[in-house]
Amino acid sequence: MKLMVFPTAAQVDDAVAQRFVALLEKKPQAVLGLATGGTPVGMYARLVELYRQGRISFAKARSFNLDEYIGLPEGHPCSYLHYMRENLFDHVDFAPGAARVPDGHAADIAAAALAYDRDIALAGGIDLQLLGIGHNGHIAFNEPGTPWDSPTRAVQLDESTRRANARFFEDISQVPTQALSMGMKPILQAKSIVMMVLGADKADILARIVAGPADASVPATALLSHPDATVYADAAAARGLTSREVG
Ligand code: GLP
Repeated sequence: MKLMVFPTAAQVDDAVAQRFVALLEKKPQAVLGLATGGTPVGMYARLVELYRQGRISFAKARSFNLDEYIGLPEGHPCSYLHYMRENLFDHVDFAPGAARVPDGHAADIAAAALAYDRDIALAGGIDLQLLGIGHNGHIAFNEPGTPWDSPTRAVQLDESTRRANARFFEDISQVPTQALSMGMKPILQAKSIVMMVLGADKADILARIVAGPADASVPATALLSHPDATVYADAAAARGLTSREVG
């Protein structure tokens, strides 16, 4: 796992956006793995800006988002489909149906999960997977203890995750208890992974990951043994790292 530290979050946004530019230049039909949460908002804004400048196109690309809540009313402003439309999909040129978010309203969630993994495999797997990280080390909604060969499936959210995400809702009672999450397996099968870690509140978990060891109790430590994973952190998130770790 490589670690890159930038003075500001805006510089992380730019560096990560450039990874998408470089990939889509080389492989316009690339398969992207996309994330939600507070962390990638600025990076998506940068991608929209680059699209408007004619420096990136998603016209031939496909994307698969990491996760979606189960149990929110259709069109709920806190759904991840809504988030992706607002932050990216409505502003760039994905072909209709090419940008996918797991269907948290599927009548048969288990079947939808199986189909999601099958469709990722049929697309040839994910070329570039974007990740954020939860304070407990979760990636997507794979909470601590998730086996690394887990498929996409319905998951129970940790109370700490519900509390962390309550800031996007009116109050915590509205935060769903379940989600449909891409599994550790399809995530780790991505050819390249970029994880964004921003802000002082992520310093402890970033230090834990960088120090190792890799262990299922901290899902993001799975990146330590991935052949092409890079963490992009801002200085605030990296403040718990030693100078040797930063390199
Ligand atoms: C959320 C998402 C994750 C995200 C993480 C951190 O619950 N399921 O994909 O990376 O928690 O979110 P944030 O970027 O808002 O800190």
